Amino acid sequence: MFPKDFLWGAATSSHQVEGKNIHNDWWQWEIDGRIQEKSDQAICHYELFDEDFTLAQKLSHNAHRFSIEWSRIEPQEGIFDETAIDHYRLVVDALIAKSLIPVVTLHHFTNPLWLADKGGWLNTHASECFLRYVKKIVAALKEKVRYWITINEPVVLAYYGYLIAKWPPGKRSFRLTMKALQNFIAVHKRAYQAIHELYDDVSKPMVGIAHNLRPFEVCPRQSNIFCKINVLWRHYMFNVYFLKRINNALDFIGGNYYEREFVSNDPRHDLGFFGDNCNLVHHHAEHVNQMGWGFYPEGLLQVLRWIKKYNKPIIITENGTAEIDDRYRSQFIVEHLKGVEKAISEGIPVVGYLYWSLLDNFEWDRGFEPRFGLIEVDYKTFKRDIRPSAYVFKEIIESGKIP
Ligand code: FCB
Repeated sequence: MFPKDFLWGAATSSHQVEGKNIHNDWWQWEIDGRIQEKSDQAICHYELFDEDFTLAQKLSHNAHRFSIEWSRIEPQEGIFDETAIDHYRLVVDALIAKSLIPVVTLHHFTNPLWLADKGGWLNTHASECFLRYVKKIVAALKEKVRYWITINEPVVLAYYGYLIAKWPPGKRSFRLTMKALQNFIAVHKRAYQAIHELYDDVSKPMVGIAHNLRPFEVCPRQSNIFCKINVLWRHYMFNVYFLKRINNALDFIGGNYYEREFVSNDPRHDLGFFGDNCNLVHHHAEHVNQMGWGFYPEGLLQVLRWIKKYNKPIIITENGTAEIDDRYRSQFIVEHLKGVEKAISEGIPVVGYLYWSLLDNFEWDRGFEPRFGLIEVDYKTFKRDIRPSAYVFKEIIESGKIP
């Protein structure tokens, strides 16, 4: 059984759903032709948010995670756009009117272009810039928002942006990756403090991050000592390092869980000496989704057991799958929630589960093809259609138990 006050809902992020985020570094990356598809109008959520939240309410959600687009709030350095701030006031009001508790992310992968042009997260002043924006937007919304996520998946962002050059700013340097990570650690701590200072003693905020967690295993085809070392190293860098450093500046831990990863150093796959992720599907006996991720619900319970030791409330801030056949999504939700139920029965303080994503959306370098939504979106007409899996989720929410 799930507790009565459990947070149930889904998540989105600004650039993936809003459309026309013309002032950020992802938009520029798209214009520069670094990826195949452009986000363009995305799914017009900037205009359709109210209708979208009505659907979430219809699906019995009681919470919703979304992100504020910094580049809309501060399109030019130091110049705040009050109409954009008003927009997010309306977003929060719409959520509250529909009994959806807002869980607000302040940074979800995108940066204002002016910051990117100044070196982004390698610039030592990035944290001052971020703090200025955080203070502005938190002050505007604090009466109605309690849950804040400072940064979404900082380690993933550092890895893709600064180590393997797949995302902006497209760097390949271990030194720069560590520099960006240090900056994220420092800025999280400062933002944590700043947000707390903006609230009075009565209405305390809950400030956390959304941390991607994933078990690593050696690819069974290429099990050797180098892979084994790599598994340990990756586990430390992805799962442990960041959390350990910000542990005393967290009111809750947001965990994003999708899959386990295999490590191989088979030279035929053009992988390094110590190995890299093996993206071939040969190790998956199970179903593989549109992203090439294997179905591994056991992993969710595993990662929850790891973070139990931090002794903080845990919200699963993302968990989802991209499927053409929606029956796999239903199965995914049911099996992962069994893990959550088990975790709660073991005394792990999980207080919420937010499915990724409420709606189909722009999946970064993978474009619009992967279908993560509980709600299907027609990309020509922007018509929304609730998928059967969303009703499976609704039934669990309403009954508080898994069928
Ligand atoms: C997570 C991201 C989210 C989405 C999902 C599929 O890593 O936080 O924006 O892309 O993956």
